[in-house]
Amino acid sequence: AIDLTGRHFLKELDFTADEFRRLIDLAAELKAAKRAGTEERRLRGRNIALIFEKTSTRTRCAFEVAAADQGASTTYLDPVGSQIGHKESVRDTARVLGRMYDAIEYRGHGQGVVEELAAHAGVPVYNGLTDEWHPTQMLADVLTMTEHSDKPLDQIAYAYLGDARYNMGNSYLVTGALLGMDVRIVAPSLLWPDNTIVELARQLATASGARISLTESVEEGVRGADFVATDVWVSMGEPKEVWDERIALLGPYAVTMDVLRATGNDAVKFLHCLPAFHDLGTDIGREIHERHGLTELEVTDEVFESEHSVVFDEAENRMHTIKAVLVATLGAR
Ligand code: CP
Ligand code: NVA
Repeated sequence: AIDLTGRHFLKELDFTADEFRRLIDLAAELKAAKRAGTEERRLRGRNIALIFEKTSTRTRCAFEVAAADQGASTTYLDPVGSQIGHKESVRDTARVLGRMYDAIEYRGHGQGVVEELAAHAGVPVYNGLTDEWHPTQMLADVLTMTEHSDKPLDQIAYAYLGDARYNMGNSYLVTGALLGMDVRIVAPSLLWPDNTIVELARQLATASGARISLTESVEEGVRGADFVATDVWVSMGEPKEVWDERIALLGPYAVTMDVLRATGNDAVKFLHCLPAFHDLGTDIGREIHERHGLTELEVTDEVFESEHSVVFDEAENRMHTIKAVLVATLGAR
């Protein structure tokens, strides 16, 4: 039996493929139980600290609802309201919170911070997004792929288009490599994941049987894909100045209906971790519109709103998968 009690989740590769799949199975069980009204409260009396140095809708709400469903309580520490990193070191914060809480979630900038928290907290620490990785998002994406495909995981092909040098691109690359999937990173080579991450993925692929490709060609990259995924072209924490360059570089990698057709697969599904820039519903969106006359960037509104899009299933699955992480690592007392 796979026992994940007490484990951190700082990046995808903290788990073996079997452990990762166990979390997906557990998430599916918890989702079904919630729907059937038979969910058991396995985390009664547990307390979880949620540190967010960047903003969030899905991740924060997923942790709060998952914990509440299981009988645990949460404390939300917002990007300005705590001493962390300003008046108190990460190491001291870790030791303080570790005395009060059973687990700590952290969203912020450098991966080093979440690693340092984990080194000193004495309780499980979860990465709720860093510049480098977004591991809880990967659980939701993999669960969503299993729900929307008849194929076993190791026969599923997905293509990630867009900025692949940040958390989502890195995470998609290593997750598919770990699970033996067919992964295509489709981006200008300037925005491919760092070489060390590509090397890591290639090593994993040797063991898992994954097929990994990085290409600048959209047509080649998406052919035969079961899923097409993308993310924002400029991430939280990046300077606004990079927008112009990214728009110029990534324009050809926007997910349009033509891109979906180029898969040759009528049943292709579209994934996006969200938030997405597909309309003028945001401040930055209105600014981009003024400067560039664009109303959509990484994905067209047509694709986003089409029957191919499974983004809201994916968003819901954040909650079920994060619940699986909590239940698996905190377990029953
Ligand atoms: N996908 C995701 O992490 O969303 P939030 O930034 O809203 O948490
Ligand atoms: N790459 C995005 C993901 C948001 C969930 C960011 O870091 O802002």
